[in-house]
Amino acid sequence: MSKLSIKTYLFTHLSPMSHIAEKYRTLRNNIAYSTIGQGVKSIVVTSALPKEGKTITAVNLATAYANADKKVLLVEGDLRKPTFHLIFNLSNRVGLSNILNGDYELSEVIRDTHIPRLSVITSGTSEGNPSDMLASKQMETTLRQLEELYDVIIIDSPSVFGVTDTHTLATLCDGTLLVVNAGSLKQEVALEAKAILEKIQARIIGAVLNNEKSVRKDYDYYYTKGKRRQLAK
Ligand SMILES: Nc1ncnc2c1ncn2[C@@H]1O[C@H](COP(=O)(O)OP(=O)(O)OP(=O)(O)O)[C@@H](O)[C@H]1O
Ligand SMILES: [Mg+2]
Repeated sequence: MSKLSIKTYLFTHLSPMSHIAEKYRTLRNNIAYSTIGQGVKSIVVTSALPKEGKTITAVNLATAYANADKKVLLVEGDLRKPTFHLIFNLSNRVGLSNILNGDYELSEVIRDTHIPRLSVITSGTSEGNPSDMLASKQMETTLRQLEELYDVIIIDSPSVFGVTDTHTLATLCDGTLLVVNAGSLKQEVALEAKAILEKIQARIIGAVLNNEKSVRKDYDYYYTKGKRRQLAK
């Protein structure tokens, strides 16, 4: 992961007055309005296909919650392609997989980040099949324990098609947020992902249109200081 993309992932923290940070605050507020009285504490962030912007959404939404004085935990539910340790510059020696295999206690794997009120659980390094680990009773027990400790828990996850990891997480969490790459994803693919999530009775609390044209322009401007250049993806 290049330096440039780490900056992109931490946009709300590094550039809080920007138009993009404001969009993540709006997303946070929209979730609050649309789930009022429903006790939504744990949110899984997913998408139909890879590279639609799940991780960037999870990280910036979590930051927006932390900035609103919430005690927030970001959990790396994507055990196959972990990135949180790179984004937050942490060791990935122990994390969620180590909890699920019973090797460590929760308190040993939760890390503070440099963002106030935002903690992280990285993927960890314990071996096993991610689908089985996430579907274990231990995952449910862990999530219920975390819900006692935090105001908001945001879980990053793999995409809906391909593996069942996200299906399990979506049924365990209070809400599911579907990220859609507006720049490239066909509508029917997004609808198919939505249908799968509905079939497993995930509670879809909203969709995020990522990479939408106006937002892309803002990123370009921020990184090139006005020179016309497409942000490397
Ligand atoms: N709105 C955006 N503007 C500019 N770059 C973006 C935007 N959204 C995502 N990206 C870039 O696209 C790439 C993929 O984003 P991200 O890692 O969030 O996707 P993902 O869905 O988590 O991918 P994966 O399926 O591999 O986990 C990253 O390099 C990220 O910086
Ligand atoms: Mg990701």
